[in-house]
Amino acid sequence: MNLKDAQIIRLFESYDSYYLADIEKLKMNLKKFKRAFQSYYTKIDIGFSVKTNYLPAFCKAVLEEGYKAEVVSGMEYDLVSEIGFKGSDVIFNGPAKSSDAIRKAIVNDSLIQVDSIGELKYIQSFCEENQKQIKLGLRLNLSVVESRFGISKNEINEALTVITESQFLNLTTLHCHQMPAFKSSKGYNELAKEMLEVYDEVSQNGFDIQTLNMGGGFASPMPQVLIEQLNFTPPTFDDYAKAIAGEIANYFSETTFRPTLILEPGLAVLSDTLKFYSKVKHIKLTNSSYSAIVSGSIYNIKPTKNKLNLPIRIIENPAVDSRQSIECTISGSTCMEDDIMHRNVQINVAVGDVIEFSNVGSYTLVLYPPFITPLCAVLDSSSFEELKSPSNFKSVFTDYKL
Ligand SMILES: Cc1ncc(COP(=O)(O)O)c(C=O)c1O
Repeated sequence: MNLKDAQIIRLFESYDSYYLADIEKLKMNLKKFKRAFQSYYTKIDIGFSVKTNYLPAFCKAVLEEGYKAEVVSGMEYDLVSEIGFKGSDVIFNGPAKSSDAIRKAIVNDSLIQVDSIGELKYIQSFCEENQKQIKLGLRLNLSVVESRFGISKNEINEALTVITESQFLNLTTLHCHQMPAFKSSKGYNELAKEMLEVYDEVSQNGFDIQTLNMGGGFASPMPQVLIEQLNFTPPTFDDYAKAIAGEIANYFSETTFRPTLILEPGLAVLSDTLKFYSKVKHIKLTNSSYSAIVSGSIYNIKPTKNKLNLPIRIIENPAVDSRQSIECTISGSTCMEDDIMHRNVQINVAVGDVIEFSNVGSYTLVLYPPFITPLCAVLDSSSFEELKSPSNFKSVFTDYKL
């Protein structure tokens, strides 16, 4: 057994289950993602999608590497401010931002990407009352993909009128975040084309657009076992870069002016940054099949309960000497019948062994509910230091009246 696996087993003396977070991998993924886009268009900036995994150690790495933070709530805004992002390096999205958070973002010169006319009018009145100039983005609801977010063609003229009539609002950014079917690069190319049509119109009306922001929603590089379960071939970073940055480079090929292209990746750069470890507690033969019950739950690895079987690895506990070779489901520790973490797998396993689930870096920590068991620890994958300690009775119930 290698040293790392021995350590993984030993950690179960202190934890029931835990995640290992790979900060270097996140840095590498962000670099690869940015480089892919830069090979088609040089003016690229990244706004890391904080909601996808707000682990503070990850946000710090994003800051250290010089990227921006993209947030969608007052809580996330406060987190990235605490971590040290300057207001001007924070992009504020979201369909129902709180008035409090909007005011904070205005005062700190963050870029607010406006989602509705109502929000725009609130920003206008606050800026006028406080005689505060701000830069604004408009989140567009483009027609390539049906969406409930952003400002559609029906409302864009009204939005532009509100901005023109205010001496405090400066429209600098056009934004969209819409996921084409199958996350296809062809769909992103159509979005980029439509975004450029809006850019054309808006610029001709005298607006000085400095930034085009194409949002996130991109597929991550995936292991073959995951690709085989999809009904489509996930595009690569290069496919997306060509579809978006290539289109934009082409559009601006004959002008000296080039706007900055911003991307807001979440899942694409996070998927393989976390692994989840849980221990086999029981092996049961039910009326129809074997079930290995582990200390974690589906909420740790797939809180949206999708049907994908994530890559797994059994780490044999050297203290156990006899194992069963069984076809089984791996099920979780909650009382929900559908807490099935992995279906129909042939494994050689014993109570006390550890199961590693890979590719759990996005939408897991942030969507984990304090349901039955509080969220476990997150440890650094190289030093094994705690990046988050296990939540417990006290941390869960601190806001309740006892
Ligand atoms: C505006 C915006 N940008 C970026 C993202 C990140 O998306 P993903 O994690 O799919 O890349 C989201 C996610 O919903 C979003 O709403």
